[in-house]
Amino acid sequence: MAPSCSFLIIILFIFFNFFFISQSLQFTYNGFNSSSLLQDGSSFIEPSGALRLTENKRNVMGHAFYPTPIPMFNNSTPHIASSFSTYFVFQILPSSANRGGFGLAFVLAPSPRFPTPEPGHYLGIFNSENDGSPSNHVFLVEFDTMNGHQESSDTEGNHVGINVNGMKSMATDSATFVLNGTRQNREIIMESGMPIQAWIEYDGNRSILNVTLSPLLHPKPATPLMSENINLSEYVRDSMYAGFSAATGEKVSSHFILGWSFKLNGMADPLNLDGLPVMPIEKSPRNNVKARKVLIATFSALLLFLLMALGSIFLYRRMMKCEHLEDWELDCPRRFRYWDLYKATKGFKESEIIGIGGFGAVYRGVLPANGTEVAVKKIRSNNSMQGIREFAAEIESLGRLRHKNLVNLQGWCKHKQDLLLVYDYVPNGSLDSILYTSKKDSNISLNWEKRFNIIKGIASALLYLHEEWEQIVIHRDVKSSNILIDRDMSPRLGDFGLARFYDHGKISHTTNVVGTIGYIAPELTRTGKASTRTDVFAFGILLLELACGRAPIVSELDRDVVLVDWVVECMQIGSIIDAVDVNLKSDYVVEEMEIVLGLGLLCSHPKEEKRPNMRQLMKYLNGDELLPLLDKLSSVGSRRSQEITSRFLALGLSESIVTNALPNSFSVGEMSSSSLDTGR
Ligand SMILES: *[C@@H]1O[C@H](CO)[C@@H](O)[C@H](O)[C@H]1NC(C)=O
Ligand SMILES: *[C@@H]1O[C@H](CO)[C@@H](O)[C@H](O)[C@H]1NC(C)=O
Repeated sequence: MAPSCSFLIIILFIFFNFFFISQSLQFTYNGFNSSSLLQDGSSFIEPSGALRLTENKRNVMGHAFYPTPIPMFNNSTPHIASSFSTYFVFQILPSSANRGGFGLAFVLAPSPRFPTPEPGHYLGIFNSENDGSPSNHVFLVEFDTMNGHQESSDTEGNHVGINVNGMKSMATDSATFVLNGTRQNREIIMESGMPIQAWIEYDGNRSILNVTLSPLLHPKPATPLMSENINLSEYVRDSMYAGFSAATGEKVSSHFILGWSFKLNGMADPLNLDGLPVMPIEKSPRNNVKARKVLIATFSALLLFLLMALGSIFLYRRMMKCEHLEDWELDCPRRFRYWDLYKATKGFKESEIIGIGGFGAVYRGVLPANGTEVAVKKIRSNNSMQGIREFAAEIESLGRLRHKNLVNLQGWCKHKQDLLLVYDYVPNGSLDSILYTSKKDSNISLNWEKRFNIIKGIASALLYLHEEWEQIVIHRDVKSSNILIDRDMSPRLGDFGLARFYDHGKISHTTNVVGTIGYIAPELTRTGKASTRTDVFAFGILLLELACGRAPIVSELDRDVVLVDWVVECMQIGSIIDAVDVNLKSDYVVEEMEIVLGLGLLCSHPKEEKRPNMRQLMKYLNGDELLPLLDKLSSVGSRRSQEITSRFLALGLSESIVTNALPNSFSVGEMSSSSLDTGR
């Protein structure tokens, strides 16, 4: 009951006060004009509407008072000074490079004119004579930037004080405010030049005076800076003038009041903070220094930011060009920059793709440095770093392989998951595309001379890989689609060593067969071990392909016909010559055809030891040595081909019919391209 009861009493009291007894007085200034206040001393109104209390001069003082006095007592309670509240915004601009002085004060005084006031520490209110005299009847709250009143030296003192009758404060505190919602006490540098809000609230009934400060854009702190027990009834007179006083001394500041509101027996009205006549800080030289410092700092920060931005752009471009290098990559002499290849292939544009193989797409590109055409093979690899590392070592040596019938590996580049191999560009495409495209669609014809030339070229390339280079290189994927035809129709064997790469990446050794269906030697499917002899086997198939114009495996009706078996069948039914490509008509050299067919069968012999090596094979092709199957055969006319056929059949080639009957999964034509994808 008690609280609600006292609440009711307060309400009734206020009601009573307002309408019957108390003089309610209030005013609000959001800026001033010349008729607003009673002024004297150095005080004047700026054109902006700010009240300037002191000029930029030493030992000046200025006063400004509300023109009519405020009745501090009312008839009902003649011994209790009325409650009041006032709210104002002030600004102190120090004018020298040293700190300024002195301060300003909110004053309640019996008269708007003080008797011979002094500047400096007396703030234009008192003098050395009357300072502290009870007859002054002056109450003030000082916002002082100097300590040292009645002391021999001035010290800096950013403080607020509550004074009665003199400059000796009843209570004093340094200028701070408590950030709402926290207990943080933040300092307010009053002479920082920033506008500062101040609230002075007096509760007459409880004799409590609160002083609160905050920077302009902060809301009023819930906790006052000072909350003091002080009974103004003892000091104030019936009517008091409310206003401000400020003074300079040896140190100088400009003191401004930007807005002011006051209310007797109630809360002073808020001010229109956005509309206040804030004084520009630049006016004071001291602050010019500060402003210059701020400017320099801002500029430096901006410059730093710009430099950093430029730096990061530079770094980014560097990274684009020269991506992360592993130690071992640096040793590799033939390494291309990704950025160059990216540019060469127009960003690996789809329109630049010239082929898609098991390893990945091949792009045509023009190197930006010298304009040479290259083919860039882009291999997406999920291989372990180890695999790539081993391969890189291999690439290094593969890059040094040089033969006119090899597609030279010019270099390489690793980019994230991609391995990029840069090869010579060979314009006429792959052999299989020429061989199996009908004559109408292709403007390149493959007559026997060209075919025989291709055979000899590839044989010499394989000889180089197997025997003539510093180490044995097994191609592992000899096939017509890996043979590219140059402008002058000379063949170039490509993709050597690549199959190896996929070996490295394999986890399981059970699927180690790498190659292309139709070209895989039978022992390779059993042991998974590639050798020069497995290359020879594939080369044998290639020979038959060129002679017969047929793919290694042809789907006919509902069965897959294996080329070797088909040639043997032709022989069993009639003659080996029946197997010759009909497109050649009879435009071929019979002896050469016999050698090619014979070698084809011999090389694709199911027993690896029966196959010749590349050096031997070269001799047969060049006619330096007679193929064993053909020797001792003199020209015996029409009997010759039957004789040869029977010798071939005696080779035991029929075994191949059995061994080449590959497991079902292998006879799927799709395998040929996917066989190399096994590492994926
Ligand atoms: C000066 O301000 C007062 C209110 O503070 C206003 O009533 C008066 O019209 C103003 N005078 C001029 C000349 O603007
Ligand atoms: C003064 O501050 C105290 C403490 O915050 C508060 O309880 C009191 O109501 C305030 N008085 C006035 C008049 O604002």
